[in-house]
Amino acid sequence: MEKHFEELIQQVKIALIDADNDHQLNNIKSSFLGKKSELMNMMKKLGSLSADERPRVGKQLNLTKQKMESLIQQRAHEIEKLKYDRTIQAESIDLTMPGLQPQIGGLHPLTQTQRKIEDIFITLGFDIVEGNEIEDEYHNFDALNTPPNHPARNEMDTFYIKRLQDDSNNRLLLRSQTSTVQVRIMENNQPPIKIISIGRCYRNDKPDRSHSPFFHQVEGLCVNDNTTFADLRDILSYFATMMFGNDIEWRFRPHFFPFTEPSAEFDIRCFSCKGAGCSICKQSGWLEIGGAGMVDPNVFDAVGIDSERFTGYAFGLGIDRITLLKYRLPDIRILFENDVRFLKQLC
Ligand code: DAH
Repeated sequence: MEKHFEELIQQVKIALIDADNDHQLNNIKSSFLGKKSELMNMMKKLGSLSADERPRVGKQLNLTKQKMESLIQQRAHEIEKLKYDRTIQAESIDLTMPGLQPQIGGLHPLTQTQRKIEDIFITLGFDIVEGNEIEDEYHNFDALNTPPNHPARNEMDTFYIKRLQDDSNNRLLLRSQTSTVQVRIMENNQPPIKIISIGRCYRNDKPDRSHSPFFHQVEGLCVNDNTTFADLRDILSYFATMMFGNDIEWRFRPHFFPFTEPSAEFDIRCFSCKGAGCSICKQSGWLEIGGAGMVDPNVFDAVGIDSERFTGYAFGLGIDRITLLKYRLPDIRILFENDVRFLKQLC
């Protein structure tokens, strides 16, 4: 009989070797310790044994049951640990795997140009000031000596927003030039003034390779009691060299602006044909990047600066134009389309 108990325990041990989950463990438990198990049958039959045998066999049965239970319990612990190890393994991170390269952003080409322009003028002693993109007709045109019938004031060219209630002749508009900042600064400050202002301007232009309904300008203004056209020439010449390199050729071309007298347009040598003439420079050999001149006394009068005592120069350059030239880009629209393939190359 005792041998049989030993065998039963052996059978449990063998069955437990392969059990590695709760389901298998429960099956083993019910087949060795369940109601229909051999052990339970033997327990049920205890009553039929003789009074001599009963305590001995009963004790053996209990010991065997306890032994089986403790073996199963022990395996249950092992299975728990196994489950835990499996989870750890499944969720473990391979620290030797190469990581994902993070995408690093960059500055938009226009921002790069803008920062470069700011750096150049800061080293020349200019302050940087902000202007408003929404302006009124007075600051965008009248104070800049632009007569009421000037074509630029036409609704075909300028985006008007609404009439100001208290003054129906003075309409709100999206500024068409950063020259408005000249007026704002001179209205509130007496010379010496030496500022640049960078910002967005708007014109009612149909987009094409050289036009956009919005674009960026840098406005410069220097007013003092002895400022001359030669100063303007030196400043812009230095700017062109710093922006485009030592061997850049530039020129002033006589022009007309209502707010400067004399006025000029500022050209640099065509980077493509080097002056021979090509389609980019329309056979002229030169590319225009902005306008400049000496502040017209009428502008000084409008802002309350003594035009007998002070002189000043001003300039306005196209930042988009400069960016196209610097990066040899064929079309202004590429700057505003946010095509990542393009941006990745220049940012
Ligand atoms: N505001 C002019 C334009 O948008 C550019 C310009 C010309 C600005 C002459 C100036 C200047 O300050 O003096 O076409």
